[in-house]
Amino acid sequence: MAAEQNAGSFDSAFYQPADAFFPAQAGLALTYDDLTLSTLYSETLPRDTSLDTELAGGLCLHLPIISADMDTVTESRMATGMALNGGLGLIHYNMPEKQQLKEVSRVKNHVHGLIQEPITVAPDKTVGDVIELIETKRYYDRKLVGLLSGNVLKPRYAAKQVTSALVPRDQVQTLRESQLGADPIAIADQFFTDHPGINKLLVVNDSDELCGLFTLSDIERITTEKLSQFRPARDNQFRLLCGVAVSTPRNAAGELDRERIETHIGALIERGADVVAVSTAHGHSKGVGNAVALIRAAYPDLPLIAGNVTTAAGVEYLADKGANIIKIGQGPGSICTTRLVAGVGIPQMTALYVASQAAKAKGVSLLADGGITKSGDIVKALTLADGVICGGLLAGCPETPGQVMEISGKLYKQYRGMGSLAAMKSGSAARYGHAPKEANRKVAAEGIEALKEVSENLDQLLGQLTGGVQAGMGYLGAATLADLRAKACYTRISPAGQKEAAPHDVVEMKASS
Ligand code: XMP
Repeated sequence: MAAEQNAGSFDSAFYQPADAFFPAQAGLALTYDDLTLSTLYSETLPRDTSLDTELAGGLCLHLPIISADMDTVTESRMATGMALNGGLGLIHYNMPEKQQLKEVSRVKNHVHGLIQEPITVAPDKTVGDVIELIETKRYYDRKLVGLLSGNVLKPRYAAKQVTSALVPRDQVQTLRESQLGADPIAIADQFFTDHPGINKLLVVNDSDELCGLFTLSDIERITTEKLSQFRPARDNQFRLLCGVAVSTPRNAAGELDRERIETHIGALIERGADVVAVSTAHGHSKGVGNAVALIRAAYPDLPLIAGNVTTAAGVEYLADKGANIIKIGQGPGSICTTRLVAGVGIPQMTALYVASQAAKAKGVSLLADGGITKSGDIVKALTLADGVICGGLLAGCPETPGQVMEISGKLYKQYRGMGSLAAMKSGSAARYGHAPKEANRKVAAEGIEALKEVSENLDQLLGQLTGGVQAGMGYLGAATLADLRAKACYTRISPAGQKEAAPHDVVEMKASS
C-alpha cells in the first residue's frame, strides 16, 4: 500500500491534472506539441471507446470532429461525408445566399445509400461521348429512358449510340421517390431481397425523371454499418445533421441588417439547418455580440456557435449574448497569419484551458478551432474541449470544393484562409472586420492561399483519425470523452522530447498516414 502511495505521489508530482498543470504554467502559453498526456491504468480497449459528444443546445454527434466553414473545405459534399461519419460540416458563406440554401438542402435531403446525382446523358449521344462527359463531368437530361451500365463504357463500343447500348426503360427496375418513406434503406433492402439478381434500383419522380440510384452493394454495406459502433449524425427525422456559417451584413447606416439576417437564417432553418455559426476572427467584440444576441432573440432554441475567442472573458461575453457553443482559436490555423500580421492570438492548449473555466461556469460547449495536424492533437484538444474544428487536415480530401491540379506529377487541391485577399474578395471580408468593398483595396490579409496534396477520401481519413483518438483514450483508460476530460494529466515536453516523439534516426520508407 505504502509503495502504491509512493508511486502515485511520484506520478502526481510530474503529471498533473489541468487545474494544477495550467495555472503552474501561467505566463507561458502552450500548444499541442508543447505537452503530452501521461498514460493511466486502463481496462478500456480502444475499440470499446465511445466518441459521442453532446454539445450545448442539444446537438449530438457521434464523432467530435467538425469540418471548418471555409470555402475550400466545406460545401454539401464535405458536410454530407462528415455527418455520415458521425461528425458535422459547417457550410461556408462565401457564396450567394440562395446557393447556401441549396447546399443545406443537399445535405438534409441526402438519403444514405441513394446516389442522388447519377450520371445522366441524352439518348442520341454515343458511348464515346459518355466516356468524354464522365471525364469532363458535364451531365444533363434527367428524363429516364434507360440505364447505361458501366460494363458497356469501353472504347470498343465508343461509336455506338447510347440508345442501342442501354437497358431500355421497361426493363429497368424503378421506385417512385414518394414510395421511399421514412426508412429508404429498409425499402431498398427489401426490394433487393424480393428481386434476386437485380443489383441496381433507380428512383424517379412523378414526371419519371431520375432522382437517384440504389446499388445492392451500397445497401449491404449500410445494413452492416447500422450495427456498428459509429453511426451517422442525424436529426430526429433521420436526416443528416448540417451546420452552416452565416455572415452578419450591415445596412447603409452601418447597423446590423436585422431583416436580412433573420430572413436568411429563417430560410436556412426551414431547409433543415441544425446549427448556425457566427464565425469571425474577433468574437469578443460589440458587433459580433450584437449579431449573436439578434439571432438568439429571433431563434431562442437554435443551437448557436460563435467565435472566435481565446479568453475566459470572451467566452463569458458570447455565452451571455446567447451562444451555446464557442469556438476557441485565434491564429493557430495552418493558413493563418493573424499572429504575424496583428501580433495577437494564444497557443491552443492554454487558450482552451482558460476558456474552459468560463465555459464550465456558463454551461456552454467549446470547440478547439485550428492548428490540428494529427490525431494526437485531437486527443489533447478533447481533454479540454467538446469537439474540434479541422480545416487543413481535411482540405486535401476529394470531398472538398475545388479542382484537383497536377504539379510536377503530384496532385493538389487549393486551400486558402478566409482572411486571405482572394477569399475576402469572395465575401469573407466582414469576418476579419473589413467592409466588403474594402477587400478590393489594400487591407492586411490575415491568411494565405496554399495547396494541399490530395489525400485519401474522407471516410478513410476520418477512420485514421478516429483510430488515433480511440488509441489515446485507451491509453488513459477513458471509455468516454467525459472520462478523458476527467482523467487527463499533462506534462510539458522539451524540444528534444518533441524530436523523440516523431520517427527519428531511421530512413523512413513509407510515411504512416
Ligand atoms: P487549420 O489549422 O485546421 O485551421 O487549417 C482552420 C481554422 O483557421 C481559421 N481560419 C483563419 N484564421 N486567417 C486566420 O487567422 C485566415 O485567413 C483563416 N481562415 C481560416 C478558422 O478558424 C478555421 O476553422
